[in-house]
Amino acid sequence: MTPTIAEQSAADLGGEGSILLRQRRDHAELDRLMNAYLAADTTETSDTTDAIDSYRERLWQDIVQLVFSHAFAEETVLWPVLRRVSPAGEDLTARVEEEHQAINDLLAQVEKADPDDPRRRAWIEDAFTLVRQDIRDEEDELLPRLRDALGDRQLRRLGAAWEAVRRTAPTRPHPAVPRRPPGNAVLGVALSGFDRLRDLARARGPSARRAGLSAGVPVVAAGAAVLVWRAVVRRGTRCRRVAARPGSKR
Ligand SMILES: [Fe+2]
Ligand SMILES: [Fe+2]
Repeated sequence: MTPTIAEQSAADLGGEGSILLRQRRDHAELDRLMNAYLAADTTETSDTTDAIDSYRERLWQDIVQLVFSHAFAEETVLWPVLRRVSPAGEDLTARVEEEHQAINDLLAQVEKADPDDPRRRAWIEDAFTLVRQDIRDEEDELLPRLRDALGDRQLRRLGAAWEAVRRTAPTRPHPAVPRRPPGNAVLGVALSGFDRLRDLARARGPSARRAGLSAGVPVVAAGAAVLVWRAVVRRGTRCRRVAARPGSKR
């Protein structure tokens, strides 16, 4: 099996636009944001406590938005394909879906808690630990199997489909939404418009720009995501059949 995608070249991962490179880039950004959040208390600064709190709150909003849009697009687009192209897909995707559910539950708890609740910090650190575990599982176990099963062009097509769904995905925790299609696509994307309007009301800067991308088009987003998901799943099944034919090329 292909080793971890963590240290391979862009060419080995299917080239610019490949799902593997897009995933790795988002994971690196999440890592950067979580480290910045954890360091915010200790970074030497002349800022007031209020300024530090608002900086940390902006980081928190960016983390929440990225975690949920990224994971929703995985559950809707990537994992159905992995289940069809890899014999280990069912077990591996069940494991990361459990991780996603645990992250959803924890972040929902943090969002509901009073900002001064002394338990909030421990919940956030637990959530970060789970996010890091999820990244390791994906880069070391799940994504290498997509590399094994799909050719470069297919990885880039899957990357484009995943990105399209990510841009219209929910950006807040919704623990009650199922982790698998079609339930997650129908319910989750319908919630996306509400999430993004709420983000827009809360945020300025990168958070607001990301939120604003589709705040006004939740219905179109829902329809597009479901269609993309269906097309990719069909294509994934076809890829596996073609790859299984003797003498077939990627
Ligand atoms: Fe990921
Ligand atoms: Fe994930």
